[in-house]
Amino acid sequence: MFGPEELAAVQKPIETGWVVQGPFVKTFESRFAAFAGVPHAVAASSCTTALHLALAALGVGRGDEVIVPAFTWVSTAHVVEYFGATPVFCDIDLATFNLNPDVAADAVTARTVGIIPVHLFGLCAEMDRVMAMAARHHLWVVEDAACGFGARIAGRHCGTFGDAGWFSFHPRKSITTGAGGMITTARADLAERTAMLRDHGASRSDLARHQGTAAFLVAEYHHLGYNYRMTDIQGALGCAQMARAAWILERRRAIAAEYDDRLTSLEWLEPPVIPTGYEHGYQAYVCLFRPEAPTLANVDRLHATRNTVMTTLEQRGVATRQGTHAAALVDYYAGKYTLTPQQFPNAWIADRLSLTLPLYPQMTGEEQQFVLDELARAFRAAVS
Ligand SMILES: Cc1ncc(COP(=O)(O)O)c(C=O)c1O
Repeated sequence: MFGPEELAAVQKPIETGWVVQGPFVKTFESRFAAFAGVPHAVAASSCTTALHLALAALGVGRGDEVIVPAFTWVSTAHVVEYFGATPVFCDIDLATFNLNPDVAADAVTARTVGIIPVHLFGLCAEMDRVMAMAARHHLWVVEDAACGFGARIAGRHCGTFGDAGWFSFHPRKSITTGAGGMITTARADLAERTAMLRDHGASRSDLARHQGTAAFLVAEYHHLGYNYRMTDIQGALGCAQMARAAWILERRRAIAAEYDDRLTSLEWLEPPVIPTGYEHGYQAYVCLFRPEAPTLANVDRLHATRNTVMTTLEQRGVATRQGTHAAALVDYYAGKYTLTPQQFPNAWIADRLSLTLPLYPQMTGEEQQFVLDELARAFRAAVS
């Protein structure tokens, strides 16, 4: 959400005239690093470009295999494809919507170089098991924490477990800069390399050049880079969002707790599950529509009923969405690698039967009550 603070923040770079990646991006990076408890944070133009930079810095190449969950936003896999490498999809745990580490371990081959666990909807993947499995097979781990702002395990923030993590500031995320992303890492080499690659491969940033006294010194270009810089207007917005991050997370958790309480009476809807010791960031409140135990045999029928519920809610002014996609089963991947729902039953069920309820920090008690009333009514109408 935005308020007068964000409006004032974006005016500042416009007033000074420094609108490309500069001082506000730098401040946003330090605030983000302090929040996540990580030594380095490197901003980028989106989470997808941040992911692209991280894989470039790790040296992913043609013929490599990278393990990714079958239920995730497509860019988790797309970025692997950018390098001519192969995303190897693994089925998820239906209770958490996150990667199943046992399935991931079975997918390791001699070509596997790394694994990308995704912290979907603000709930951390099972990082202790993912890290143990990766160590056994000598894989790097990079965390897709696009939705993970505020998600922790035993107090440790996501994006700090593996070699690197990346976050999204798309408007559907808990804090937003319009578009934008952030790489987090404890590895100084990865921080330095991603910062250089996001800026055409330049050895010095614009800010460092302008703050220096040797006007004749230009950057060196030793590597093939990209233009994936965040603007300072976005950086200023990010700083303002960080200032209200604690409140945003507190509100999200309070609204989610109210849903948890109230949804126990609806046997047909499974609210998000939180393993012991995990803190959910609630980027989204994603439930599973399960009037009966879902299987591949009944998923189409249940999907049709869920869609009827969603359509009725839409007509009543309540916006719902499915959680995300079974990326493995979108046309591009299903066609290219001949993938079927039978290989990823949980991802397919999650794709067909997930249901995201409205959740935003400024949501009032009356609005939430309205959603709950309409939800119950829409289900009764759909099955009557
Ligand atoms: C799991 C996941 N990964 C990556 C992304 C990409 O983020 P961006 O839109 O910032 O590139 C998203 C965005 O929704 C996402 O949900």
